[in-house]
Amino acid sequence: MFILGIETSCDETAAAVVQDGQRLLSNVVASSVDLHAAFGGVVPEIAARSHLEVITPVIDQAIKEAEVDWQQIDKLAVTFGPGLLGSLLIGVLAARTLAIVKNKPLVAVNHVESHPYAAFLTAGSTSLKNKYQFPTAQPQFPMLALIVSGGHSQLALFKSHGDYRLLGQTADDAVGEAFDKVAKILGLPYPGGPSVSAAAAKGDSDKYKLPVATMPGLDFSFSGLKTAVLRAAQATVGKSFDFPSVKLPGLLNESQKADLAASFQKAAIAALVAATKKAEQQYKPASIVVAGGVAANQALRQTLINSLSTPVTFPDFNLCTDNGAMIATLASYYRGKPSDPYSLEASPSLSM
Ligand code: KG4
Ligand code: ZN
Repeated sequence: MFILGIETSCDETAAAVVQDGQRLLSNVVASSVDLHAAFGGVVPEIAARSHLEVITPVIDQAIKEAEVDWQQIDKLAVTFGPGLLGSLLIGVLAARTLAIVKNKPLVAVNHVESHPYAAFLTAGSTSLKNKYQFPTAQPQFPMLALIVSGGHSQLALFKSHGDYRLLGQTADDAVGEAFDKVAKILGLPYPGGPSVSAAAAKGDSDKYKLPVATMPGLDFSFSGLKTAVLRAAQATVGKSFDFPSVKLPGLLNESQKADLAASFQKAAIAALVAATKKAEQQYKPASIVVAGGVAANQALRQTLINSLSTPVTFPDFNLCTDNGAMIATLASYYRGKPSDPYSLEASPSLSM
């Protein structure tokens, strides 16, 4: 069974071919991140226009690199939400058109639900298997999933494929969003995840005592932590609370930025690990999967491995951020009715 997955919910135009829900044959990602960097965040209009420009070549490339032809593709899968409406529309319309023209069943996939499915890929084509580090085995059910990205921070318990329960989520900012906002405060490049974690590696994580919000149940909150970083940065350069954050990067030196980044990262990780550990104790899963862009964070990976007793599976780094492979993989296990290619709509605020 060969499935072509298409993903355009944010700023990555992505397509991939997956065989039998576990072997990656191609994974093509064209990101418009450089176009957004000057604005310090994703500009929806720019993202949508960029998807439109590259969607066809990206899909063609995914088919070509997989060394399959259209006849061999059994199904198409596409993200229909949640995400930016203009971005989702391009992927959904491309998939609907291809489903009609090529006469293939179409599976509509929830983006957040699909992130952990990147961890179900355990093998790659001859050309990919040396470039990717796949987990040695697929995660076992019940599977606890920590989904952490620029748009979501969720804990979910999967009893089996498609049968899951949301255990906790963020009350305000997503953790990736907090990394992005802290990067802005410190004058580090967008996206903030990689730049904050690189700065953090050179800093002292005990320099600032930043608050980790305790939330009821298994929920998260990151907006207070982001404000605490802002206040600490203002105090460090001897300014009051009303000092504009845009002027802070010019006053902070490299070592102060590194210490703030390290202290922030430590607090953010502590919040994620505490909730995951609590869920582990409560639900006793057979496996834990950590997925989404923030799962690329090396310090988070190490702290989770050290703190949890259940085996933890991480997707390859290339499969943590948005991609078409996780969309195709989830669709491989989907047993419901296919979507109508004449009427499938994008659903920007789709929940898990
Ligand atoms: O999953 P993703 O590509 O897009 C969404 O669905 O949101 O995640 C992107 C997010 C961004 O907020 C980015 O700053 C964060 O993942 N990220 C990281 C790292 N790499 C990417 N956060 C922390 N550490 C990283 N190494
Ligand atoms: Zn995502």
